[in-house]
Amino acid sequence: MVRLVATHSIRPPGCGERIPMQPHTPPNNPTRSASLRDQIVGIEREVPLLDGSMRRYINFDNAASTPALRPVQDKLNELLEWYASVHRGTGFKSMVSTEAYEDARRIVAAFVGADSETSAVIFGKNTTEAVNKLAARFGLQPGDVVITTQFEHHSNDLPWRPRAEVVYAELNPDGSLDVVDLHRKIEQYAGRLRLVAVSGASNVTGFMPPIHQIAEWAHAAGALIFVDAAQLAPHRAIDVGEPGTPGYIDFLALSAHKMYAPFGTGALIGSKDFFRRGEPDYRGGGTVEIVTLGDVEWSDPPERDEAGSPNVLGAVALAASIRVLEQVGMGAVAAHEKHLMRYALNKLGALDGVTLYGSPDPDRLDDRVGVIPFNVEGMPHPKVAAILGYEGGIGVRNGCFCAHPYILRLLGVSDEDAQQVRAAMHARDRSSVPGLVRASFGCYNTTDEIDTFVEMLGRILDGDYKGDYVLDRPTGDYTPRGFDPAILRQHFEL
Ligand SMILES: Cc1ncc(COP(=O)(O)O)c(C=O)c1O
Repeated sequence: MVRLVATHSIRPPGCGERIPMQPHTPPNNPTRSASLRDQIVGIEREVPLLDGSMRRYINFDNAASTPALRPVQDKLNELLEWYASVHRGTGFKSMVSTEAYEDARRIVAAFVGADSETSAVIFGKNTTEAVNKLAARFGLQPGDVVITTQFEHHSNDLPWRPRAEVVYAELNPDGSLDVVDLHRKIEQYAGRLRLVAVSGASNVTGFMPPIHQIAEWAHAAGALIFVDAAQLAPHRAIDVGEPGTPGYIDFLALSAHKMYAPFGTGALIGSKDFFRRGEPDYRGGGTVEIVTLGDVEWSDPPERDEAGSPNVLGAVALAASIRVLEQVGMGAVAAHEKHLMRYALNKLGALDGVTLYGSPDPDRLDDRVGVIPFNVEGMPHPKVAAILGYEGGIGVRNGCFCAHPYILRLLGVSDEDAQQVRAAMHARDRSSVPGLVRASFGCYNTTDEIDTFVEMLGRILDGDYKGDYVLDRPTGDYTPRGFDPAILRQHFEL
């Protein structure tokens, strides 16, 4: 039977070049090697460079999505043999699948320190869906206030706007959260304040605000707290704490595709009592106990909030990934990523012509996850990203990272300039859209990869790149002249 049971044996933190796996032998594959990096699907995959050579791909875009872990892939293959309808099926395979799905909930709950008896783990597509669900289910009334921050991803900002008066906490000059301002605003709006919605870690600068401290302030003001853990969960251990204690995190959301399990799942975690109240935002099969032509009795949470047939494979993938992360230990993950950050910031800081945003300090790593935003002097951010990709085989991300207000703030773009950019965009010209390049690390990246990345940046700074990059104004992207996208299908075709 496919049973996913959380293992709690945690390795002591280490910060070597590769995170070792626990001496754990998966029953179905005793030959698995001992490094977490070796467990990444596609880690050896080479990609073509502009000069025709091949190079092993370097993925520094983990803040967007991580690759899958092989034990996740294995677990899914195993489950597919047993896959059948969940919840409503009566056959043996249905019972196996249902059991696996419900085990996945328990594993996710344990991963964030939540009690499965009292907390609902609601599976959905991703963090964005989770925040929208919470916003729809919160029962906000006219005049209610939600406090968030100026460094949020749009997914933890836009869902609140139509439903409440949204107040934004200020930032420090380095882009970290101004907690003094946040505290002041929480006290100022006490009475009307219903919720503080804050990222556990920024997807742009990696800064991690003190979420438990913020929870204490929110609770003291009679409000609840939601933590968008899309960026926090892959990088740090999370413990929502004891319900009813001041530092308790009332609601939390995460995305599996940022946690080595890209199979379309996210989770919203919060108390069952809360989700027992009110009606689901999506109605339909699965959400109900009894339906008559005139009446509906809703299911208990979490089913009440999971309309339609659930993504069993996605949920199991997330749980399987969590099992691996727990095996290696989130302490080891954090230590390795700090090691990478220190190494990268030291190297990048020595490059004349590279501007680092957020904190460039290689010794300030306790309040940030592995994200480095930067620009190269005199070169548009999309061109830097293009050269890294086409000539270095390095995947990064550039642009505004779904955090437009934050990026404008970090770059010091004036309102007038922003208006001009907006006008140009309306005229189908994105060539002047401000932005940054972002390198973001996963627990499997290495300092060798950082060396290649820094060397490529050095070449870019020296003008030592081969392509003749052509700007496409409507998209703002740069492509080397002569690049034929047909090559993509030579590598994968449906
Ligand atoms: C901080 C943060 N919140 C929310 C999201 C949205 O996550 P998803 O696209 O998985 O819904 C992201 C995605 O990058 C993020 O970084």
